[in-house]
Amino acid sequence: MEGEGTGTHATVLVVDDEPLTRELITRFLRREGIAADVAISGREALYLLQQHGYDVVLADVQMPDISGIELYRRAKAFSQDTAFIMITGFSDTDTAIQALKLGAFDYLLKPLNLDELGLSVRKALEKRRMERELRLYREALENKVVRRTEELIDRSRQLRRLLLSTIQTLIFTLEAKDKYTEGHSRRVAQISAFLAEKLGLSSPEVRRIELAGLLHDIGKVGVHEQLLLLPRPLTEEEFAQIRIHPELGAKIVRPLDELSDLVPAILGHHERLDGSGYPQGLTEDEISLEARIVAVADAYEAMTCIRPYRKPLTSEMAVERLRSAAGEKFDKRIVDLLDRWREQVDSIIHTSTQIETVR
Ligand SMILES: [Fe+2]
Ligand SMILES: [Fe+2]
Repeated sequence: MEGEGTGTHATVLVVDDEPLTRELITRFLRREGIAADVAISGREALYLLQQHGYDVVLADVQMPDISGIELYRRAKAFSQDTAFIMITGFSDTDTAIQALKLGAFDYLLKPLNLDELGLSVRKALEKRRMERELRLYREALENKVVRRTEELIDRSRQLRRLLLSTIQTLIFTLEAKDKYTEGHSRRVAQISAFLAEKLGLSSPEVRRIELAGLLHDIGKVGVHEQLLLLPRPLTEEEFAQIRIHPELGAKIVRPLDELSDLVPAILGHHERLDGSGYPQGLTEDEISLEARIVAVADAYEAMTCIRPYRKPLTSEMAVERLRSAAGEKFDKRIVDLLDRWREQVDSIIHTSTQIETVR
């Protein structure tokens, strides 16, 4: 069964029960420089096909054990890439056409015209060569895509780490100035993310709101620290200075590509639905959903935690205050959610963790 002539494994298999036809074909192919193995029956051909992958099979349609068509059918199950050329007598043309319909490459009529046979085999080999090249090209392309994707994932992980350490530095800078609000940003971030999740927002949106919560007060780095630490309510003039922090925060974050989409939440977290908020006095839908979520989280956290100028409220009292301002100052849907999940929100406040937990 060795390939004839070339010493390398043959790419063509000739299957015919007639020795003379086999001989005629293989000799011709050898002269054409094409190595061929032979099988004297369909059964032997199946065995050989399972051992080697042939590019082309020349199969007689009429054979005593397994017919050429049956051979093709069975071979297709495990050797889809092999091109089948059926050899048939005139009376069997219908069978050969049926094989073509099933996906066979070509058929040749007996008595064989060897030039036609040579042409058909070469065409089949060429088709196989092109398919192989295409497959290799596709595989190389897929590998390239996989490699490039891995590189991009790696790069985005690095960027993410860089981003987190930038945020961490910003928060530390703020907390170093304002000891009373230490942890406030983290707690607001976690409450905001929790409420966003309960609102049914997608996980990228939840993540964005979490970051917005983390950075909502970052503009306070530009506010004089004495103002932040005053042990009494602020005068109107002092408060005017505090009121610049949303704009200042937006200014800090806007140039950072990865964070610029947090601007609406940072800028808008002190806006109120009735227009009484600052800095722009926006109303209702003019205030982004992110800003409305952070606003509720911020107000609740601030009311339930110690401040230099007042004692904390109990969570019931804080929710009551939010409730009485719901629909007027705060988004009612969000206040309702906070009320419904108050126990979980309180446990977030009491177990608020480090920045590393930010997804
Ligand atoms: Fe604020
Ligand atoms: Fe705040």
